[in-house]
This record gives sequence, structure tokens and C-alpha cells, in this order.
Amino acid sequence: GAPVEVDIGDLKPGEKKTVEWRGKPVWIVRRTKEQLESLKANTASLADPNSERKAYPIPEYAKNEGRSIKPEYLVVVGICSHLGCSPSDKFATGAQPSLPDDWKGGFLCPCHGSTFDMAGRVFKNKPAPDNLEVPEHMYLSDTKLLIG
Ligand code: FES
Repeated sequence: GAPVEVDIGDLKPGEKKTVEWRGKPVWIVRRTKEQLESLKANTASLADPNSERKAYPIPEYAKNEGRSIKPEYLVVVGICSHLGCSPSDKFATGAQPSLPDDWKGGFLCPCHGSTFDMAGRVFKNKPAPDNLEVPEHMYLSDTKLLIG
């Protein structure tokens, strides 16, 4: 499929944009300071905090805590690694009932309850085995992103 160009100039902190790439939803999330801070808290509960698994190729520039080129922007494929449902946004901070105690918000899969943090990293307690996929992407400018 052809690469997709996305204008991110209008994305405010805490907002998310979804674009379609190769028939899949790709999310671009502009993370707030609190959301970036939340990534430090919960690594013990994560299945693959450093994206070392090889379920699919992870670009070198996504092998860091935020899984991103620029800390502020998360770019991931919005498809659960269990059976392919699309997780919902749960950008809340603080613990929520029936979710991992140290989950500080991110994405929740409605199908079997897998949770992902604000970097799309999966928690161990539910069936999804892998982090959300990071598609190949690059910045054409401060406000233009190329996916694919
Ligand atoms: Fe997401 Fe099963 S499809 S937890």
C-alpha cells in the first residue's frame, strides 16, 4: 500500500487522530506530560516493556520507552494483538476498578480486557501477547507525518 501523509499540526495534547493505512487504523496520539510521565511507572507489569519480541518487526526508532521518534507523539496500529479487536481510548489517569492497579491509562480492548499503556505496551494479566504494532513512519516537517 501507498504511504499516507498526515497533518498533525492541529493535534492538541491529549488528542488522537486515526488514519487508515493498508486497511488498518493507525492512531497518532499527542501525549501530555502526565501521559509521558505515566510510562515510567509500570514497567514491571508489562509483557514486553522494551519491545524486544519479534512478533513483527519494530522499527529501531520505536525501541524506547515511548516507542516513538518524538516523545510527544505515539504512532501505532490500533489493533489488539490477541484476536484483532480495536481497543478503546482510556486516557484517564489513576487506577480504575477491574484494571491493573498500576495501569495509568492508555487503551483497553473491549473483547477480552487486555490493557495497553500510553505507548501501546501490553500488560501481562490478559490474553493479548504483544504490544501494539508501530508502523514505519517519518516526519516530513514539524506538522507532517508520513506513515508507511
Ligand atoms: Fe483484544 Fe482479545 S482481542 S483482548
